[in-house]
Amino acid sequence: MSQSLHPMLNIAIKAARAAGAVINRASLDIEKVQVESKGVNDFVTEVDKHAEAVIVDILLAAYPGHGILAEESGRELGAKDSEFLWIIDPLDGTTNFIHGFPVYGVSIALAWRGVVQQAVVYDPNRNDLFYASRGRGAYLNDRRLRVSKRLRLADSLIGTGFPFRKGDNFKRYLKMFEEISQQCAGLRRPGAASLDLCYVAAGYYDGFFETGLSPWDIAAASLIITEAGGLIGNFSGEADFLYQREVVAGNPKVYGQLVNILAPYTRVIKDDGAAPATGEALPDATDAFVASATEAAPAEAAEKKPRKAIKVSGPRTPRGRA
Ligand code: IPD
Ligand code: CA
Ligand code: CA
Repeated sequence: MSQSLHPMLNIAIKAARAAGAVINRASLDIEKVQVESKGVNDFVTEVDKHAEAVIVDILLAAYPGHGILAEESGRELGAKDSEFLWIIDPLDGTTNFIHGFPVYGVSIALAWRGVVQQAVVYDPNRNDLFYASRGRGAYLNDRRLRVSKRLRLADSLIGTGFPFRKGDNFKRYLKMFEEISQQCAGLRRPGAASLDLCYVAAGYYDGFFETGLSPWDIAAASLIITEAGGLIGNFSGEADFLYQREVVAGNPKVYGQLVNILAPYTRVIKDDGAAPATGEALPDATDAFVASATEAAPAEAAEKKPRKAIKVSGPRTPRGRA
């Protein structure tokens, strides 16, 4: 990148690299890592917690007045009333990490008034740094990123994530899987959503979809995608995706085709503003999200029937990119 980086992005990069060093060190002796279960198939290790502590220390040392939403500590740390919110996944792809499968990353986003401004996703195995500042493009190391130019879903490589938690609606997912797998050139599930989304920005994938993701899985990569010329939204093609547990992304052409298929499966509640608009209601949305994420019943348990298909005549541009 020829221009100098935004100071807040620089701090995020410093924090992501420090967390990456913690993760890389631990990966040298993976047998010794203590694993706890947060729920069925949902794991946390001492490495997730240590990496998160290192990130939060660096961010709050630089910006003590900022808020923190982090996977392992929720809204416990940082200021509660700041317009700045750091959204952190210290180790995305924990199951891969535990097995020594080298696909996992560190994800750090900074939102201001609910809109992501700075973003870093770091892959410590490859020493690959994906980053973006709003309005200043997306980069992988020194290379400017652009989404792919592929026009047809039939020619496209698509990424996804499988539901795996107790209570996830696996049948609903299988229907989407069946439809999309038959209409694209290939489907992949490496197991780290933040990296999956960066692969859309880099043009490795032409599109991506998943249900059940949390804000810390997607916040940083969402800016990296839009700054690379891609689109990201919920299954109806709208920008309210950060707290909605359903996300679709792609280059503009493929995004439109994926939305056409996925719109009937949306479970975002639109009436009476129940789905918080990104950029308007973030503090409440984060609190509500953290509360619902810590409830025993998984979000998918309150499943709605698939909606009727919404015809998308072309790629939709999410309202107020986030
Ligand atoms: C998980 C990964 C995975 C996705 C899961 C996430 P974690 O994050 O991103 O790809 O399918 O839904 O929870 O728990 O390893 O940080
Ligand atoms: Ca994650
Ligand atoms: Ca994680």
